[in-house]
Amino acid sequence: MAPMPFETYAETRPFAAAIRDSTETRDMPPWFADRCCGRFSNDPSLSAEQIRTLAAWAAAQAPAGDVKDAPAPMHWVSGWNIEKPDAVLEMPVAKHLPATGDVPYQYIILPTKFREDRWISMSEIKPGNRMAVHHAVAYVRSPKSHWLRGAPVGVPFAADDLPTEAQKRDAMWTDSDILLVYAPGSQPDQWPSGFAKFVPAGSDIVLQMHYTTHGHPMEDRTSVGLVFSQQPPAKRVLTLQLTNDHFLIPPRDPDHRVEVRGTLPNDALLLSFFPHMHLRGKSFEYNILEPGGRIHTLLRISHYSFYWQLSYRLANPLPLKAGTKLQAVATFDNSKDNPHNPDPDSAVTWGDQTWAEMMVGFFDVAVDPAVDKQRYFVRSGFGAR
Ligand code: HEM
Repeated sequence: MAPMPFETYAETRPFAAAIRDSTETRDMPPWFADRCCGRFSNDPSLSAEQIRTLAAWAAAQAPAGDVKDAPAPMHWVSGWNIEKPDAVLEMPVAKHLPATGDVPYQYIILPTKFREDRWISMSEIKPGNRMAVHHAVAYVRSPKSHWLRGAPVGVPFAADDLPTEAQKRDAMWTDSDILLVYAPGSQPDQWPSGFAKFVPAGSDIVLQMHYTTHGHPMEDRTSVGLVFSQQPPAKRVLTLQLTNDHFLIPPRDPDHRVEVRGTLPNDALLLSFFPHMHLRGKSFEYNILEPGGRIHTLLRISHYSFYWQLSYRLANPLPLKAGTKLQAVATFDNSKDNPHNPDPDSAVTWGDQTWAEMMVGFFDVAVDPAVDKQRYFVRSGFGAR
């Protein structure tokens, strides 16, 4: 995904100065969690010593060193980044995209045909066309769910394609569990042993796809790979969200604050975070509001970048008691000084497309395998509380 590979010395050498600069500023490797708060198992940050080593190498005209000491060439996995999936669900037909314009969110219902309940230890969304897929959310629609019943199976459709007003409205709202979210830069889900997501027998995976256009017609057939857990896990993983969809960001406001709070109704082990905003997103943090008014910050991103949709996995999962008050706080920069701002003169509200905004703090928790998600938060789709 980067503009150039650094696999061999010959490929890397011309970029010595850029490597020095981008590591000294910590622009590379990409990571946005402030060092103040939390430790994360997927933090790729270099140590100060590693950064000094790269700078010294650049200053010495980027010598090759002794070829005998070179590491063996990388063997890249083609296809899946997770283990060989036990089940692959692929869009049966391609979504054809126009050359230009906004594409409303597309939904694709993929039947799992699972005859028995399945625990999922790893999952990956593989875009058929990485240029076209802006993000994808895979929901688990259990056989009990009424969501999108009556909608076509296996073919892409938008909410507005559905025949009745009620169906159009309900398409955006679901309390189905999220299996995983894909955005460029995100990693597949690989839960530690003893943890898994639950897919009941007879479920469908519903993909919600946000496509962007790039000046020429394209097509996409995205697939989802699932690795089954061999034993029932000790803990079930649920993806919950702290969402505020009722904000209004005034025109030209450089620092508009939006917050949301929620209370955990049951004990849970907190595993990871995935903040999501659009182009005006400036900062995001997750806090615990402790009795007595103290704020315990779990993750702070002072410089949010829409272009890096990363998840932040706690190095030490955090047990939280029922009644814990969680808060997510976002700020938005709607000024002309935000180089990504599509229009500083507009007042901005919630919306699917990137010129509108979102404020979603996804977080993963592990709970007793028998506990159902609905007892935590009644939540709707990528776009609601
Ligand atoms: C120590 C590790 C890394 C080094 C030394 C490094 C170095 C660089 C350099 C020198 C550039 C060009 C910057 C410029 O335009 O001046 C760059 C850009 C980029 N790199 Fe890295 N990189 C590292 C890790 C990564 C990783 C882990 C990813 C992906 C997960 C990544 C993705 C990108 C992308 C997408 C760009 C394009 C510019 C952007 O979108 O910000 N890099 N990197």
